[in-house]
Amino acid sequence: MTKTTLTRFCLLASACALLSAAPVAGWSQDRAPAAPEPSQPVVQKKAETVQLRPVSDFDAIEDETERSIAIFEETGKVLLHPRCVNCHPAGNVPLQTMAMTPHQPPVVRGDANFGVPGLMCNTCHGPENVKVVGQTEDILSIPGNPNWHLAPIEMAWQGRSLGEICEQIKDTDRNGGKTLAELIEHMAEDDLVGWGWNPGEGREPVPGTQEAFGDLYKAWAATGAHCPAP
Ligand code: HEC
Ligand code: HEC
Repeated sequence: MTKTTLTRFCLLASACALLSAAPVAGWSQDRAPAAPEPSQPVVQKKAETVQLRPVSDFDAIEDETERSIAIFEETGKVLLHPRCVNCHPAGNVPLQTMAMTPHQPPVVRGDANFGVPGLMCNTCHGPENVKVVGQTEDILSIPGNPNWHLAPIEMAWQGRSLGEICEQIKDTDRNGGKTLAELIEHMAEDDLVGWGWNPGEGREPVPGTQEAFGDLYKAWAATGAHCPAP
């Protein structure tokens, strides 16, 4: 092997350290730390630090009503997150980004919360998230789900307190007629809710996992489904 071929080989193989026989003491410590995995974008890393506390964390609260409220408050980390509120706005326009700004391009909810003819939600939102390559700096993907549309106005959460949202999601007149059991199932299993944990590149997911979120709701129902003060 000539010197040039050896160098090329070194570029390709991390094993080249063996060939150079590490002549300088402490050589490896002088190197910059290895680059992070390219498949771990910064936004996702940041979100990993926000977790949901497990149900067992609340066992120490003896009073059942207080325990129920504390468990619900934990789920608020998800409910009040822009990933959810952006689609549960108080007006006729969806919201976007962590800053919850009005949707760009301008769209409206329309009669059935699916947009208006010619500009339906699924004109742009497909059945799954789609990566956007090299078109804008701030939009890395378009969110998607087969059922992508706006939550009806009676299910608006924007601007409401956690206690108000709690009363509202239990109220069959405002929650789409769901029993408590159906509400819990919606939280734990619904695919559109699940999008919050898989929001596509460039978007921060909601905390924890849908499974942990569902478990908190089951525990909330089992302790009487009490709400924080509005
Ligand atoms: C003309 C194309 C287009 C139409 C029509 C459209 N959207 Fe969007 N939507 C986008 C794009 C592009 C983004 C990504 C923007 C971003 O991430 O900043 C987006 C993002 C969103 C988000 C933000 C998600 C988040 O948490 O950041 C929501 C919510 C949303 N759209 C809801 C809707 C709803 C509901 C409809 C129908 C009433 C709709 N959109 C119609 C293009 C469209
Ligand atoms: C793409 C828009 C969209 C996103 C994002 C979204 N929702 Fe919804 N949500 C809806 C629609 C539409 C309905 C009504 C249809 C239904 O009941 O299945 C709804 C209904 C609900 C309901 C029924 C009861 C009620 O009063 O609101 C709950 C609970 C709910 N969503 C929770 C969530 C949570 C939690 C998140 C975030 C993790 C979330 N949603 C994100 C569109 C969305």
